[in-house]
Amino acid sequence: MMSTLWSGRFDTAPDRETFAFGASFHFDCRLFDDDVTGSRAWARALARAGVLEAEEAARIDAALADILEHGRPDAVALAGDDEDVHSYVERLLVERLGDAGRRLHTGRSRNEQVSADLRLYLLRRIPRLQRAVAQLVDALAAQAAAAGDALMPSFTHLRPAQPVLVAHFFLAHVAALRRDFDRLAAARADADALPLGSGAVAGTSYPIDVEALARDLGFRRVVANSIDASSDRDFAAGFLFAASLAMVHLSRVAEDLIIFCGDEHRLFELSDALSTGSSMMPQKKNPDPLELVRGKTGRALGHLVGLLTAMKGLPSGYNKDLQEDKEAVFDAEDTLAGSLSAMRAVVAGLTLDRSRAAAAASGLLLATDVADYLVGRGVPFRRAHEIVGGLVRKLVAERREFSSLTPAEWRAASDRFDPDVVERATSRVSVRMKQTPQSTSPEAVAASLAGVRRWVAEVLPPVSQLC
Ligand code: ARG
Repeated sequence: MMSTLWSGRFDTAPDRETFAFGASFHFDCRLFDDDVTGSRAWARALARAGVLEAEEAARIDAALADILEHGRPDAVALAGDDEDVHSYVERLLVERLGDAGRRLHTGRSRNEQVSADLRLYLLRRIPRLQRAVAQLVDALAAQAAAAGDALMPSFTHLRPAQPVLVAHFFLAHVAALRRDFDRLAAARADADALPLGSGAVAGTSYPIDVEALARDLGFRRVVANSIDASSDRDFAAGFLFAASLAMVHLSRVAEDLIIFCGDEHRLFELSDALSTGSSMMPQKKNPDPLELVRGKTGRALGHLVGLLTAMKGLPSGYNKDLQEDKEAVFDAEDTLAGSLSAMRAVVAGLTLDRSRAAAAASGLLLATDVADYLVGRGVPFRRAHEIVGGLVRKLVAERREFSSLTPAEWRAASDRFDPDVVERATSRVSVRMKQTPQSTSPEAVAASLAGVRRWVAEVLPPVSQLC
C-alpha cells in the first residue's frame, strides 16, 4: 500500500489518479539539492536547540550528504510513489537511518520547507541569469564598438525620425538590459529571507536559533511573521516580473532586428548559421530564433499573471494552490535563459551594411536639423518648423531631398538660409550637434560605451576567476 508523510490520519490509501494530480515530484525534483541543503542545516539547528543529540545530528548529516551524492532522483525514482521532493528525501533518509531519519522533521513543516527550498534555488540560480544578461550586454557593446562612427536612421512610429549612430542603437538595448540585471538582483534580495522556524503556520515549539540557521544557510535575514511566511510568494512573483520584463526587452530587440534585417531595410544581415530556410520558397532566409524569442515572451508573461492570479484569492496561511509557483518559476527561468543565449548568438553574428544604413539615415530625416539651423539664425522654433514643413511638402511632392535644393530655392523658403545650410544639413553633422549625455553625439556615445564596458568587466569576471 502507498505510504505518504501523512498516511496515519487515513483509513484508506489515496485515490491513485487524484494523488498523481496533487503530486509535485516530477517538477519539484529540481529542488533536490536545496531540499537536502535545507535539511542538513535543519538537523544542525535541532542539535543546537538540544532536540537532537550531536551524534545523531552528525549521522543525519552524513546520510544526507550521501543522499546528495547518490540519491539524485532518476527516471525510476520519479516514476515511484513519492508525493514530492521533501517526501522523497525523507524516505531515503529513513531507509538509511531508521528512527534517526524519522526525527529530522521535528518542529518543521513542508509549508516552510518548500518556501526555503524555492528561495535557496532562486538565490543560486538568479546569478546565472544575471551573467547571461551581462554576456548579451557584452555582445551588444562589441557591436557598438565595431560600428564606430556608422550612421543609421532612428524611428518613431516606425517612421524614419533622425540620424543616430549605430552604436547608439545597440546601447539603447543595453540600457534596458542593465535595468533587467538590477531587477533580477532585487528579486534575489526579496528571496533572501529564512522562512524556517515558521512551522506549518504558527511557528515552532522548539528553541530554534533562527538567526544562526539563517547564517548557516546564507540567508541575510529571517522572515517577519510565520502566517505570512507560509503563504508568501512575493519573491516568486517578483522573480517572474523581472523575468517577464527581461523577456519583453528581448522581444523588442528581436522585433527591431527582424525589421532591420528584413528586405525593406537590410541595415544588418543575419548570420546564415542562425537563420532558417523555407521548404518551398528557395529565396527565403528567415529569422526564426528572433521570432521564437518574441513568441516565448508570452509564456513568461503568462506565468507571472498565472501566479498572481493563484495568489490573489488565498486565505492567510499555506494553501495547496501555492504549489503552482514552481512550474511557473522553472519555465520562466528556462525561457529567459534560452532566449538570452539565442539572442547573444544572433547579436554576435550580425553584419552591418554601413552604406545602406548611412543612406537610410539621410534625406528628409534632416528636417529637424534644418529647422535648428534657422533657430541659430534667430528664427523662433515654431516659425522655423513651419518654414521647413513647407519645404518638406514641396520636396515630397517632387520626390526630391534637401541636398537637391538650389540656393535660390533655399532663399525662397527663407532669407535666413545661406549656402552653408548644405554642409549643416547632413547626418554626420546632425549627430555631432547633439549636446546631452544621453544623446547620439559621438562623445556621449563613446563615454556611454566606455561605461558599459567597465560595467561588463566588473560584473562578468573572466572565466579563470570563477570558482
Ligand atoms: N508540494 C507542496 C508545494 O509545492 C509542498 C508543501 C506541501 N504542504 C502541504 N501542506 N501539503 O507547495
